[in-house]
Amino acid sequence: MHTLSFSLNGDVAMVTGGASGIGQAIAIGIAQHGGQVGIVDLPGSNADDTLAAIEKAGSRAIFIGADVTDEAQINAAVARIEADLGQLTLGVNAAGIANAAPAEDMPLAQWQKVYDIDVTGVFLSCQAQGRAMLKNGRGSIVNIASMSGSIVNRGLNQVHYNSAKAAVIHLSKSLAIEWAERDVRVNALSPGYTMTKMNSRPEMVDQMETFARDTAMQRIAEPYEMAGPAVFLLSNAASFCTGVDLVADGGASVW
Ligand SMILES: NC(=O)c1ccc[n+]([C@@H]2O[C@H](COP(=O)([O-])OP(=O)(O)OC[C@H]3O[C@@H](n4cnc5c(N)ncnc54)[C@H](O)[C@@H]3O)[C@@H](O)[C@H]2O)c1
Repeated sequence: MHTLSFSLNGDVAMVTGGASGIGQAIAIGIAQHGGQVGIVDLPGSNADDTLAAIEKAGSRAIFIGADVTDEAQINAAVARIEADLGQLTLGVNAAGIANAAPAEDMPLAQWQKVYDIDVTGVFLSCQAQGRAMLKNGRGSIVNIASMSGSIVNRGLNQVHYNSAKAAVIHLSKSLAIEWAERDVRVNALSPGYTMTKMNSRPEMVDQMETFARDTAMQRIAEPYEMAGPAVFLLSNAASFCTGVDLVADGGASVW
């Protein structure tokens, strides 16, 4: 009989945006399930809390300062993780930014920056991780999209962010199909409102109570609540799941 396993023992992960919020919570979740982690975040980020939590969980991690929009830095990050921790088998792409402006006033530079980080950054990360995984013969990637990729958040003018997240969902499905027969799975995880630094921006803070009311469960998620769905998708428990968009939003998008 096959034994169901969520274990990531023997796995090596790269987590972008791993110094904060959802990426940090998932990096710690991976370590709690036995995986080693390369934390990738902007140079100068403070990853001390993440590294300490991973050590406390009994696993190993390194921090690499890199910008996900810089192809050479992301390729070097994968090479460094493989040199220090071993063959890369897991990728979590959580680096992202958000902001808001009415569409009719949005400067091109504001649109472009969100696309550079939230779409191109995810593609470059998947490309670098995928190359290593295809060579290593297996892998599982989870891209952090958003429920905003499928719904439009009431009260938030963010045409760039919403459409970028829709792109992340379809990018994940497209890569899933390209790599399906070579044992590299690619899935998206779409959080609903989650209590992180991203939600302390001015247009969010004033509306958090409304956003909790817009959520069927009547509350905002804690970052650790994204770790379970991510660990599931990364692990062999999800061995037949690829091209999925797993929505973890407390029922917000069901309404
Ligand atoms: N918080 C929410 O409610 C929510 C909901 C749905 C989806 N998301 C998505 O979850 C992901 C994580 O966001 P969060 O809420 O944890 O926010 P966060 O601000 O706490 O974390 C984002 C991390 O990404 C890093 N980052 C930003 N630009 C980068 C770059 N160019 N290169 C490398 N790292 C970079 C930041 O330094 C930060 O550590 C994002 O993709 C976000 O869009 C968040």
